[in-house]
Amino acid sequence: MMAKISLVLVLIFFLFFHVALLVPRLVSAADLKVGFYKTTCPLAETIVRHVVEKRHSTDKSITAALLHLQFHDCFVRGCDASILIDSTAQNPSEKAAPPSATVRGYDLIDDIKYALEYVCPAQVSCADILALATRDSVALAGGPTYDLPTGRLDGLVSRADQVILPAPTMSISQAFTGHFHPLGFTLPEMVTLLGAHTVGVAHCFIFQDRISNFSGSGRPDPAMDPALAASLRKTCSASGSPTAFLDQNTSFAVDRSYFRELTRRKGVLRFDQDLANDPSTSSVVYGFARDEASYRKSFAAAMVKMGNLKSGSGGGEVRKNCRVFNKPKSSDVDDGV
Ligand SMILES: *[C@@H]1O[C@H](CO)[C@@H](O)[C@H](O)[C@H]1NC(C)=O
Ligand SMILES: *[C@@H]1O[C@H](CO)[C@@H](O)[C@H](O)[C@H]1NC(C)=O
Repeated sequence: MMAKISLVLVLIFFLFFHVALLVPRLVSAADLKVGFYKTTCPLAETIVRHVVEKRHSTDKSITAALLHLQFHDCFVRGCDASILIDSTAQNPSEKAAPPSATVRGYDLIDDIKYALEYVCPAQVSCADILALATRDSVALAGGPTYDLPTGRLDGLVSRADQVILPAPTMSISQAFTGHFHPLGFTLPEMVTLLGAHTVGVAHCFIFQDRISNFSGSGRPDPAMDPALAASLRKTCSASGSPTAFLDQNTSFAVDRSYFRELTRRKGVLRFDQDLANDPSTSSVVYGFARDEASYRKSFAAAMVKMGNLKSGSGGGEVRKNCRVFNKPKSSDVDDGV
């Protein structure tokens, strides 16, 4: 009995300190400012926009990819481009963590970095490139345009074991209390950020139970519109690893249609549908569903706020190559915490 209790205590102790040590507290960066590169690299924002425009003209899915990439960057150690570091045998980086498996868009960030290093070497951080590229891709998808404070530094740490992110299998309260609230987001801000699903896709296996056999009932999820369930069954019967758009109405547009679809029981993920049905979030969903202007204003503000997340510990640099740390000077050794 005693041994059992102390084992539990040891486990709790271990988990608590493990997590407390591994996951640095995130704070809001007060030192960012709009136009940070005005004198050091005046063309920075123009170059980012041009490269993103070029990609978007042939690949509309780049908006979803960048929103996903920036979310992964900012929610782990703050917006410090830690997600961009390639794994090595000595250092399994964030990219190697299972939740990063579907993250893409790294090549676009490389293209932008390459162009910027040519024009103004060692000036523009990879973290800023990612934040600016995401901002521009949202505008290209018809979403809001907004000024974005810059001046982020690239982090010196990227570790697979620090990737702890909300999952679509969570409940709303788990996602909020476990992930968004600790970073300083309100419930309406969480709903707003999840509005990035307006261009998102999910693999069928994530929502398969909803369209065929929900909770072992032998029937689809009663919370899903039957016509949507039927059309998703068709989509998901394809061979390979089929995916479906989370906003079936305007799949490549950043707009309120994702929320409007939720009010019509057309959420693809149970988590998304819950946002419309849960008393704690439904008024936000219905509000955005009705009012495009309010959705746009809120989305821009939430993106700026997410972009301000910063690790309270560890130094920074402007990486020359977004995938690798600069060669360390012998004087600054980082202990990884
Ligand atoms: C649905 O799932 C339950 C529990 O897993 C299973 O027993 C049942 O056979 C399934 N029904 C259908 C129609 O697949
Ligand atoms: C999207 O929703 C609008 C508004 O309800 C509707 O008129 C339109 O037909 C829908 N388009 C698609 C492709 O589902």
